[in-house]
Amino acid sequence: MTKRVAIFISGSGSNMVKLLDSMHGDHPARPCVVLSNDPSAKGLERAEARGVPTEVVRHQPFKGDRDAFEHAITGALAHHAPDIICLAGFMRKLTAGFVDPWRGHMLNIHPSLLPKYKGLHTHARALEAGDSLHGCTVHEVTPALDDGPILGQAEVPVQPGDTVETLSARVLVQEHRLYPAVLERFARGDKRPILLR
Ligand code: GAR
Repeated sequence: MTKRVAIFISGSGSNMVKLLDSMHGDHPARPCVVLSNDPSAKGLERAEARGVPTEVVRHQPFKGDRDAFEHAITGALAHHAPDIICLAGFMRKLTAGFVDPWRGHMLNIHPSLLPKYKGLHTHARALEAGDSLHGCTVHEVTPALDDGPILGQAEVPVQPGDTVETLSARVLVQEHRLYPAVLERFARGDKRPILLR
């Protein structure tokens, strides 16, 4: 049966666009909603332009009450009935109260070769460490930040003279290849990790 996919964003939604554009033909999934915590997220317009329903659940009114924020997200999702959630640049931490019921059905993309560089500023940290290899990871979401079983990674060699801007741009190109590839396999029930070079 075709899987229904909710995509959570906070910003430009370039990964979201790649996921939306991949779900056609004999792909085992279709988008059902794009949700953002930020009403000004550029990705919302991009989703609407593709005819995908959108929802906004602002985090500010909840002022640190994560349970209430997550309860509101659950409410916004209800009538879209997703089977899978893809976090795609969704910059809010989700607690176990939300994550646990979605275990095995929620993915995230992170701009580092996990387990290296969980959290923020991944490109700067890779450059500071003098790494020769950087990249991105798609993983199942568990309550621990940027943790959970790895479903795919894409490598990006660091080049002499790289800056955060040049490196992050090359990582993003790989994110756009990796996330659709992982989602397609995952939606077929195949959790074997993918490695892209
Ligand atoms: C992507 O690089 C994604 O890996 C990162 O945010 C960016 C979103 O870009 N996610 C995280 O850092 C999550 N910890 P996009 O909105 O253009 O897809």
